[in-house]
Amino acid sequence: MADQFGMVAHLAGQALRTGWYLGLHEATDRVTDVLGRDLPRYRPSGPVPSTRQLMQDLGKLLLMDAQNVRDGVYPSPEGEDGPLFRQVRRAVAMFADLPEAMRRRKAGEGAEVASLPGASELPDYFVQNFHYQSGGYLTDKSARLYDVQVETLFLGAANAMRRQALRPLSEAIRGRDQRHLSILDVACGTGRFIDQVAQTFPVVPVKGVDLSLPYLSEAHRFLAGRRCVELLQANAESLPFADESQDVVTCIFLFHELPAEVRRRVAGEFARVLKPGGRLVFIDSLQFGDRPDFDGLLEAFPAKFHEPYYENYLGDDVEMIFADANLVSMASWNAFLSKVVVCRKP
Ligand SMILES: C[S@@+](CC[C@H](N)C(=O)[O-])C[C@H]1O[C@@H](n2cnc3c(N)ncnc32)[C@H](O)[C@@H]1O
Repeated sequence: MADQFGMVAHLAGQALRTGWYLGLHEATDRVTDVLGRDLPRYRPSGPVPSTRQLMQDLGKLLLMDAQNVRDGVYPSPEGEDGPLFRQVRRAVAMFADLPEAMRRRKAGEGAEVASLPGASELPDYFVQNFHYQSGGYLTDKSARLYDVQVETLFLGAANAMRRQALRPLSEAIRGRDQRHLSILDVACGTGRFIDQVAQTFPVVPVKGVDLSLPYLSEAHRFLAGRRCVELLQANAESLPFADESQDVVTCIFLFHELPAEVRRRVAGEFARVLKPGGRLVFIDSLQFGDRPDFDGLLEAFPAKFHEPYYENYLGDDVEMIFADANLVSMASWNAFLSKVVVCRKP
């Protein structure tokens, strides 16, 4: 009974939250439509889901999420967006930034961040803006805006999609002494997933790596007070960890921003640092064929948002990449606009 009550309370909270982000999504769409009225319309060749279909899939994700809460897989999250005043301030800042982002879109400007301090030490594929965002991954402002932008884009479902990784994670570590495990989140960004792990498994040591110092600083702020969390700057292509040192590696929303050959190097690193029997839990965008009736939506995405490697990612075979790295596929499922892939190192 208490679990059912928890599930309903969680669903109600998430419905409110989704409403807030749906409102922001609608409003940003209107503003960008006005600012971009002179831009040509992209007509995808594949099928595009109706709003109703999208809402149904979003509803399915929220239901899976609530069932996980009911089943005790993870608790209903606390403070997942930070304090309300900060949320509102950041939403306002996102709107204030839209004209600049639209100017870059019209100019087809994707690499202006290459002239920022520190950019020359970073890989070329990284030193770009994604989604025409101001500052790419190289500024504090970008790090502050990232989460409200991502949640707005995904209709408030980004955190719920990330939480899908918690079920396979908990299956991997169930019954083990959690104080002596090691979980590594590769490309942890602003630390939202690490916060979910820390709320679910407070004594498990979790490390997060990312190339972006401003994003790591934002993660530090967001995760302040969480014990057992360590953050460090590192390139996913050469992780600073010993062979066979990690029980679980997670990686969320990274691969679609990497060139094909880099995806393969990063997968090789996952396999290298995992202990035998260790798990990889991977989440990223749906790919062509995962939801054939969504293919046109995926195809249109890079036309609207600067995503230099997304088109290639859509047709790449993620499970084959992991198989080539000697990681054995265990499970895979769609979660709204994302897919979850779970692999095991033999
Ligand atoms: C789309 S964000 C995803 C962040 C986070 N995992 C999330 O769930 O929001 C991609 C992240 O990958 C990081 N990144 C990109 N290339 C990287 C690389 N080669 N090594 C480490 N981090 C990288 C970026 O700095 C950024 O924080």
